[in-house]
Amino acid sequence: MKKILITGALGQIGTELITYMRKEYGNDNVIASNRSKHGDESVLQSGPFELLDVVDAKGIAEVCKKHGVKQIIHLAAILSANAEKNPQMAYDINMNGTYNVLEVAREQGIAVFTPSSIAAFGPSTPADNTPQDTVQRPTTMYGVTKVAGELLCDYYHQRYGVDTRGVRFPGIISYAALPGGGTTDYAVHIYYEALKNKKYASYIGAGTFMDMMYMPDALKSIHDLMEANPDKLVHRNAFNVTAMSFDPEILAAEIKKHIPEFKMTYDVDPVRQAIANSWPNSLNDSAARAEWGWKPDYDLASMTKDMLEKLRIKLDIK
Ligand code: SER
Repeated sequence: MKKILITGALGQIGTELITYMRKEYGNDNVIASNRSKHGDESVLQSGPFELLDVVDAKGIAEVCKKHGVKQIIHLAAILSANAEKNPQMAYDINMNGTYNVLEVAREQGIAVFTPSSIAAFGPSTPADNTPQDTVQRPTTMYGVTKVAGELLCDYYHQRYGVDTRGVRFPGIISYAALPGGGTTDYAVHIYYEALKNKKYASYIGAGTFMDMMYMPDALKSIHDLMEANPDKLVHRNAFNVTAMSFDPEILAAEIKKHIPEFKMTYDVDPVRQAIANSWPNSLNDSAARAEWGWKPDYDLASMTKDMLEKLRIKLDIK
């Protein structure tokens, strides 16, 4: 069985991807890595764990050698809003981290999955039904590093034959680990606050549409793309993937169906609002559907039902 290394394994996606992949490929074949040990204990306990900072190229090379890694799922990155607080650090981690992973992959013959994002688009991109191949002039540091990462992954495939693959994720909604410092995080926080306090002040304004996806679909997309027949992949990297598009009003209305007392107010944060305004309203993911059979299982209604059920248990709210 091939050995898989996951960077950023204690982040929002990593925490759940570790469990998913260990079930699929065996606990010992999935190596979790993170720059700190702060996070879900089960990630640390259920299989191998390495303390690894992706800016440390030598460290990545050593961990890959030690375990005989054949695939890296490179999740470690600074998200959009945090990147605007410290663009220099975000550049270092997002850009050099991806470069280091690709260099180790080239040297050791390793396949690489790298997530890009809706942030790889900007204000001059067509906002509705955003095509797979279109204008990409993002105005955030996070977006700049994501576009450069997409191009680097394509380059390493064309130039060196590294098996690079990736998707452009929308906002990911989940109940296990919280997202850290993104623009789409409001769509996670709202569920916690609806259950705990029956109210939420949204930092994203009414009428701001963004693409979103429930975590089980995000995990499935990573797995399915890495297992896809490479002969069928025309794009390889940066596939648009989405499951739904909504604004805070539509999300609040869906939550109200389950918690009628829920009230949403607005306390718009100009920084995150400006980021959201520069991103698409809705992606066209037909290339992913055609090239590797992408199809989400959850829509807003089924996600909301499941999120509230799972969070009630987690937060011990009757
Ligand atoms: N969820 C991410 C963010 O908001 C988008 O990739 O930064």
